Amino acid sequence: MSQVLDGKRVRDEILEELKPRIARLARKPGLAVVLVGNNPASEVYVASKVKTCRELGMVSEKFTPPNTITTDELLQIVADLNARPEIDGILVQMPLPKQVDTQRVLDAVAPEKDVDGFHPTNVGNLSIGRPGPRPCTPSGVMELLKRYKIPVTGKHAVIVGRSDIVGKPMAMLLLHAHATVTICHSRTADLAGECRRADILVGAIGKPAMLTREHMKPGAVMIDVGINRLDKREDVVRIFGEKTEKAAAFDKRGSVLVGDMQPYDAAEISSAWTPVPGGVGPLTIAMLMVNTVESAERRQP
Ligand code: GUN
Repeated sequence: MSQVLDGKRVRDEILEELKPRIARLARKPGLAVVLVGNNPASEVYVASKVKTCRELGMVSEKFTPPNTITTDELLQIVADLNARPEIDGILVQMPLPKQVDTQRVLDAVAPEKDVDGFHPTNVGNLSIGRPGPRPCTPSGVMELLKRYKIPVTGKHAVIVGRSDIVGKPMAMLLLHAHATVTICHSRTADLAGECRRADILVGAIGKPAMLTREHMKPGAVMIDVGINRLDKREDVVRIFGEKTEKAAAFDKRGSVLVGDMQPYDAAEISSAWTPVPGGVGPLTIAMLMVNTVESAERRQP
């Protein structure tokens, strides 16, 4: 039987461990979240981030400039937040509208308040193994592996996806944990063959159920980072089948979530796997809270 890696359980453990650390601080940690425009997925993520802050007794401030904002206006918001001592963490939700120069905005966040770990200074710190904030989703995956005691040293990890937010930092973290790492992407010649060499397969491409049994080595660990919303019934039926819970859920709600992996194949073939939702997703927010508390600890006497 394959083991389900329960991200909600690990999230709750991580958040519980933060409570005494927050209580020890002279001032509550403060997180500023900037959400530009009204991307529905981003709105859901940001609401969840703000709610988790409140539950932990941290201070959160949300800024919601319109979709028409200019790069300079957004740079001004970031500069104001950099200057405020009671703000320990700044998060600018991605993606930004196309008229905004994303790199300039990420560069403007003070590295010591960069709780996403997206600033080039922190990307560099990760690359050479120096301390600093790590991108939340990949560091959540590492916590999941650690807390389920899944060995990484000497294992072959294959990551499908080379994004700056997940794929590349995931590769660095696994490399520092002594895995042998392969990064695959849309132009990889023999994707299924590369994936079948993985002891740990990480799906981070954003393509619903793209990785199937032909990509999976029996007994490997399957980590599914994808969160894709299906809003066509034919896609739900193709992936999950007609008489399934997911098809029923679709009929009730008009959409369902699926990761980058075919979940039935992962459950059947792997030794351990992460469901979507409830696997990696909850850890992203938990690690944002960890990064914010660590920033507050560093910035407070
Ligand atoms: N968009 C998708 N994931 C993330 C994340 O981890 N941080 C930010 N800022 N934006 C995102």
